[in-house]
Amino acid sequence: MTAPTVSSDTMEPKIFIFNTVEELAHQLAGEMLTSLGKLADSQKIVSLAISGGNTPTLLFREISELSAMDRYRIDWSTIHFFWVDERCVPPDHPESNFGMANKYLLQSIVIPAENIHRILGESKPEAEAERYTAEIRKYVPLQKGFPRFDRILLGMGEDGHTASVFPGQMELLGSDKICETAIHPASLLKRITLTGKVLTNAQHITFMVTGKSKRIRVKEILEDAPVAKTYPAYFIRPVNGRSDWYLDRQAAELLKDNPVS
Ligand code: 6PG
Repeated sequence: MTAPTVSSDTMEPKIFIFNTVEELAHQLAGEMLTSLGKLADSQKIVSLAISGGNTPTLLFREISELSAMDRYRIDWSTIHFFWVDERCVPPDHPESNFGMANKYLLQSIVIPAENIHRILGESKPEAEAERYTAEIRKYVPLQKGFPRFDRILLGMGEDGHTASVFPGQMELLGSDKICETAIHPASLLKRITLTGKVLTNAQHITFMVTGKSKRIRVKEILEDAPVAKTYPAYFIRPVNGRSDWYLDRQAAELLKDNPVS
């Protein structure tokens, strides 16, 4: 295994723990709408890269519902959606990360089609990784040679992977590319993912992790256990930004200090 060159020696993440997933989704949706809205007041383009998996479905639903309320109303024409990763399937496939976000969020908000920068899971993966790299370069400003997203939403798998950077492919953390192809270790299906250097270059990273099955990984990563250095998620700490972990009570169960927010 190639050792990642991404530093983990940065600002400590802030941890927020909620009794239920519903409460977590509600609070995070409100926070995201408020901070994206503030950015939208002063920037022409606000870049948001979202994860796939099942965890964000509730969050996406909540964002679409809250954004219809006066308090959280947002000018979606400024917000540009990107994805941290995509499975190599067509957009209408049940596994498509774009498909999931489209179903639970994008379909129900008014946003220009050109603001939706999906990864074309149906295209040839290597060529698509290059096309997507060019697309990101066009919209997201560079800082220290890498795109700097305003906000990145991440999940974490039970094996400690995040985006599509899996424990057996740690070299994607230190890659100098913006996008790479990856292989899902169980299904061997190809994926396209942002690399570690792009993820850690973001201004603000939020992990949303829920459920009992992830509680050991959460403890190891957030309490700096030596084994955590074998998990990609451990290394995703912003080099010049903030990060927070939104957890439900079950995912946080083993943490030493876990006062519920
Ligand atoms: C994906 C992801 C991935 C995901 C985790 C957690 O495409 O699968 O972006 O990194 O966030 O695997 O997935 P769940 O939310 O389904 O547990």
